[in-house]
Amino acid sequence: MLHRVIYASEAVGATGASTLSVAQILGVSDRNNRRDRVCACLMFHQGHILQALEGQRTDLDRLMRRIIADPRHTGLRILSDMPIQERRLQEPISLSADPAALLERIGLPCISRLSANEAEVLLDIRKAA
Ligand SMILES: Cc1cc2nc3c(=O)[nH]c(=O)nc-3n(C[C@H](O)[C@H](O)[C@H](O)COP(=O)(O)O)c2cc1C
Repeated sequence: MLHRVIYASEAVGATGASTLSVAQILGVSDRNNRRDRVCACLMFHQGHILQALEGQRTDLDRLMRRIIADPRHTGLRILSDMPIQERRLQEPISLSADPAALLERIGLPCISRLSANEAEVLLDIRKAA
């Protein structure tokens, strides 16, 4: 059964702030997520990270174990984890191009205090932004 996990975390060091750090995460994620049929989107904003992941339970659990153990971020908290009927994400990994604009549309200045519901809304509007 398909599930969607949404989590938030805090970047460590240059994670998300340098092109190289982002490229490294996107490269590995593209390879692994294709293999595991996981779809994901990722947002970096002012040192905060937000990621949504969709896939089969066992694949998501394995991936979450790797992500939780990754020292490039810290303070990971799961905002939402639930079964879904169908995917909303289509790409193995996509990066939110203009996180500030997306957040503005739901009236939030920052990812840090995002609720599960607001995270779901972000997923809905990300394509339109
Ligand atoms: C914010 C963040 C998001 C990540 N997202 C993914 C992801 O979607 N898929 C993935 O395989 N690895 C992701 N990673 C990397 C994993 O933590 C881990 O380094 C990687 O999966 C190890 O892959 P390997 O065993 O093929 O070397 C992410 C790391 C960070 C810091």
